[in-house]
Amino acid sequence: MSGLPDGSAQIGRLQLKNPVMPASGTFGYGEEYASFMDLNRLGAIVVKTITLKPRVGSYPHRSTEVASGLLASIGLQNVGIERFLADKLPFFESIKTPLIVNIGGESVEEYVSLARSLGQRARVDGLELNVSCPNVRKGGMHFGVDPEVLRDLVSHVRQATGKVLIVKLTPMVTDIRPFAEICQRQGADALSLINAPIGMAVDIKTRRSRLGKNLTGGLTGPAIKPMALYCVWRVCRAVDLPVIGIGGISSLEDALEFFIAGASAVQVGTWNFINPRITLDIIEGLEKYMEEHEIENLSEIRGSLAGASA
Ligand SMILES: Cc1cc2nc3c(=O)[nH]c(=O)nc-3n(C[C@H](O)[C@H](O)[C@H](O)COP(=O)(O)O)c2cc1C
Repeated sequence: MSGLPDGSAQIGRLQLKNPVMPASGTFGYGEEYASFMDLNRLGAIVVKTITLKPRVGSYPHRSTEVASGLLASIGLQNVGIERFLADKLPFFESIKTPLIVNIGGESVEEYVSLARSLGQRARVDGLELNVSCPNVRKGGMHFGVDPEVLRDLVSHVRQATGKVLIVKLTPMVTDIRPFAEICQRQGADALSLINAPIGMAVDIKTRRSRLGKNLTGGLTGPAIKPMALYCVWRVCRAVDLPVIGIGGISSLEDALEFFIAGASAVQVGTWNFINPRITLDIIEGLEKYMEEHEIENLSEIRGSLAGASA
């Protein structure tokens, strides 16, 4: 093999030097992980969902461990766009890694306003739309589960910004493919999936939810990996957009499964809490794996699932 293997990933106009990034909400605003690794080694950094106004988030208990996973209801706690721009964004001037800002809102106008504010900042490379936020006008229904609502949202945000636009899909739908197709038609550059499916856990002594007043939470971690892989595989066959695989990734082998299913890149979420260097471990492991297996380009692995003609 001549030279180093090429593990780069193309997400719209964004050329990532490697295909590994942290998932929104599990890596703070980036700076929190600076003491664990050289952040310049990451393919990209995705920050916690930012909303127009600051949010204090959910009541305690916010998270509880379940079999092979975590159940969490954080309630989109974040500093809000003003403080993000003033206090959090300047840190990114000290590093070169592409920055993807995840945004959420309760109306299309809120998303558009966020996209416009962030669109004016050169340091912001891409936006990831968290469509698992409740749309207040639609009685709290999530943006990502109604095709009409999703179409309207993606089309307005697309018109509002020239930044690379990634839509993060929820698996809480009967068939995820039409939602992916809508995003493609409305001009999204890429898709990321999956966001956390909703789950519950009950304390049988108190007969209360283990998430207290929140009752329900997003299920994350290894428990959802098979579901995430299935969604990624289906979406990769339905659209012609790069897909970022998310869900239960805790090792290089997990990431490889997503690449084989068709993902262009991966995000690691819950496992950052177990091993804060997991993203770097996967990046280094992938380089070694490609060298050992004489794989010159990640495209040799991507979408290479055998026996998948059906
Ligand atoms: C504590 C916690 C907070 C999260 N916050 C967000 C968030 O703010 N925005 C978002 O789009 N996803 C959020 N997520 C979902 C993750 O980005 C990811 O989609 C999900 O955890 C599945 O990946 P994993 O199994 O690797 O954790 C959060 C997940 C966890 C565990």
